[in-house]
Amino acid sequence: MLRQSSRLVRFVRTPVRVYSPAPSHVLQRTFAEHHFPGNKAESLEHSQIFKISQAIQQDHSELEDYYNRIVSSKDPDEQRRFQNIFIWELSRHSIAEELVVYPTLEKAIPDGAYRADKDREEHQKVKEQLYEFQKLRPEDHSFLPTLEALFKDLKRHIKEEEEQDLVKLEDALGLTQSKELCQKFEKTKLFTPTRSHPSSPNKPPFETVVSFMTAPIDKIRDLFTKFPDPKSTKPYGGKSP
Ligand SMILES: [Fe+2]
Ligand SMILES: [Fe+2]
Repeated sequence: MLRQSSRLVRFVRTPVRVYSPAPSHVLQRTFAEHHFPGNKAESLEHSQIFKISQAIQQDHSELEDYYNRIVSSKDPDEQRRFQNIFIWELSRHSIAEELVVYPTLEKAIPDGAYRADKDREEHQKVKEQLYEFQKLRPEDHSFLPTLEALFKDLKRHIKEEEEQDLVKLEDALGLTQSKELCQKFEKTKLFTPTRSHPSSPNKPPFETVVSFMTAPIDKIRDLFTKFPDPKSTKPYGGKSP
């Protein structure tokens, strides 16, 4: 059983490795992915594990960093590598939110169902844009306009998520539950698809099933995909090992 699970972890290995010395926030996130204290949830309170809002905000910062690297670069190879990591990160982030964070939002706050449905709708639009973007190459004339339109919508969604949804969610959850949710979020990201599939369902349980079927295919494709050198993605280069 142990051997089987370690094989599985190797299989879902993500393309950018944590480099040494890793920034402290990276170590905290890596720790969150692998530290599961079971029933001893109270021990989380004083741990270094991120709250859910911190983990999500860090993903958002990484995405903005990758976006800036693409639009400011004149080197097609560099743009391609950052395009790939942008797609990889946004796909994982969006699906993990849909599988783990939005169902919690629905239960935890009074207008949570309305907020979660609105978030899913916004994700759907971004996934469709991402699907178009992932077909383009830096040499294509629509490469930057497609990315800029996508990021404009994504930025609006991120702002609402950070300033409204996550603030209310943190108030409702409290520290320990927030850290537990962060663990689930980081763990889920290891098993989600890493490309955009806009025709897939965006709500559990159907999304869960489709994600588990699609993710292995994406992860095989990742083996043949060019990503940026981890050293060039500081300060956000640390990813799941
Ligand atoms: Fe979102
Ligand atoms: Fe988000």
